[in-house]
Amino acid sequence: MAEPLSIAWLNGRFLPLAEACVPVLDRGFIFGDGVYEVIPVYAGKPFRLAHHLQRLANSLAAVRIADPHTEEEWQGLIAELIERNGGGDQSVYLQVTRGIAPRDHRFPEGGRPTVFLMSNPFRPVPEADLREGVTAVTLNDIRWEYCHIKSISLLPNILLRQQAVEQGAAEAILLRQSEVTEGAASNVFIVSEGVIVTPPKGDCLLPGITRDLVVELAMEHALECEERPIPEVELRRAQEIWLTSSTREILPVTRLDDLAVGEGRPGPRWHTMIGHYRRFVEDLRRGA
Ligand code: PDD
Repeated sequence: MAEPLSIAWLNGRFLPLAEACVPVLDRGFIFGDGVYEVIPVYAGKPFRLAHHLQRLANSLAAVRIADPHTEEEWQGLIAELIERNGGGDQSVYLQVTRGIAPRDHRFPEGGRPTVFLMSNPFRPVPEADLREGVTAVTLNDIRWEYCHIKSISLLPNILLRQQAVEQGAAEAILLRQSEVTEGAASNVFIVSEGVIVTPPKGDCLLPGITRDLVVELAMEHALECEERPIPEVELRRAQEIWLTSSTREILPVTRLDDLAVGEGRPGPRWHTMIGHYRRFVEDLRRGA
């Protein structure tokens, strides 16, 4: 696991990450009462920043925490954090909690949100995972009914990911009432009868920023793509399965529950899509 970069932001100032401390009564610590974002950065430029900030605003509104910053303030703060950490490729982590208060489930009155940002080096997906694909297992989606909120309360996701890892897999693909929702920390796409399919947005999954770009790229390049429910049986006979996220970009799954997916290699649609995706990232790097 790569060490985080050294400069963080906490409640109004930049400081060394090692010195960033939050009181134990912070509701993030006590209740997991907060929301977050993970924003990839390529050559010093944040990826789809407006989309990430819109999702942050949506998450804050959904949990009724007043947005502590304007969009311009967030943009400035993120730009300065990236610069202070040396630019290049990074992964910005941003968290807002309901702040410090005596432990009580109901909201505190007049509380001030805690705002924390740090950055990690962006670690590209290992070449071997792209060449050969990764393994996934299916697990029952044990989470709540507000999965569209990017909440820091991630205990179910952590338990699911750990269970997958202990079964030798890179990710858990979650099933709710025999339909695919998403991964423990990713969105899911399949290729079925030559068509790219991903579950529709709603309360059962996080509206991934990477997911949305993949759907847009499919449209732009006239690749047939549908946003509709994926029954478990269709997942199991898919020609291709992909996972998308800010940290893993588009990752091909070539084994599901110990059976080969399609030919057992990253498929032709994945090769096409990752090409489009990389060109999008290259344009961002060049500032196009
Ligand atoms: N997680 N679904 C879940 C449950 C996630 O946690 C994530 C990302 C995604 C993909 O969203 P995006 O494309 O916007 O990264 C979908 C981040 C990377 C994390 O928790 O580290």
